[in-house]
Amino acid sequence: MTPIHAPFPARRFRRLRRMAALRDLVAESRLSARDLIWPLFVTDVAGADAPVASMPGVARLTVEGAVRAAEEAARLGIPAVCLFPYTDPALKTADCAEAWNPENLSNRAVRAIKAAVPEIAVMTDVALDPYNLHGHDGLVRDGVILNDETVEALVRMALAQAEAGADILGPSDMMDGRIGAIRAALEAGGHRDVAILSYAAKYASAFYGPFRDAVGAAGALKGDKKTYQMDPANRAEALRLVARDLAEGADMVMVKPGLPYLDICRAVKDAFGAPTFAYQVSGEYAMLAAAVGKGWLREEAILESLLCFRRAGCDGILTYFAPRAARLLGAA
Ligand code: PBG
Repeated sequence: MTPIHAPFPARRFRRLRRMAALRDLVAESRLSARDLIWPLFVTDVAGADAPVASMPGVARLTVEGAVRAAEEAARLGIPAVCLFPYTDPALKTADCAEAWNPENLSNRAVRAIKAAVPEIAVMTDVALDPYNLHGHDGLVRDGVILNDETVEALVRMALAQAEAGADILGPSDMMDGRIGAIRAALEAGGHRDVAILSYAAKYASAFYGPFRDAVGAAGALKGDKKTYQMDPANRAEALRLVARDLAEGADMVMVKPGLPYLDICRAVKDAFGAPTFAYQVSGEYAMLAAAVGKGWLREEAILESLLCFRRAGCDGILTYFAPRAARLLGAA
């Protein structure tokens, strides 16, 4: 690009900011409901379909409620929902077997949504934490998170989700080698067209706290996830992880959390050009929702935060604000 320097007053930048019509014409990024993935918390534990205290405006839903949310997404032009199960504590075990039960909550919700609203893409979470007595994303032996044994479990889980009709699998566990193993199993199992959105650059973040409340993993979790999730200090490592996951067969990649990591989003998009997503996580949601709820910030802050992901190179954003943002953007 050759910069043309027209000195003042030949160039007055404010000319193109004078009215909305001109601003619209020259806007470099746009946000639409179509860029959003709406994460939903699902439960079948009696009484657990209740508001999540640390996420004002978010509630756990029954399977029926999740179907209604998917219908709402369709009305609002939101293309996809992502399911996170709040599992009955009685079903949590050290071997996490409920994770690949074809009849588990998540798989039942996938089937119910795909039966009612087939045009909505349903994404699922591939990680063991909702089913794990230990609250970790991987199998634990003697206090160590096992990698290769976990990958075998994730493959079983992924196949059960694909059987249930999931359109997008979201491995969020950060074990090494899981994308290649899941991709190979999907090919061998007749699920060639199931997409993988890899949580490729997922950081060990304090911003996940409210999510762990929502899925009931906070109580079980001992210690932290720093031996598998990334160090927030690292950037080059994120690019190496994205390269690895794309090479292993991920169709799309994610950076998580979102706003504090926009530099990573931009670097990933520029380096690979692959479909790139960011997860505006529960803690980011909690901060914004609380400040807007108290009247400390105006509601436009929500749309601004989402537009910034687009400017940073993201194709889309997972956000709990999805329906509210879609309404603010003028959808039905
Ligand atoms: C766990 C998982 C987490 C989130 C999505 N999947 C939490 C964690 O890694 O502890 C966080 C999402 C959010 O905070 O909104 N597999």
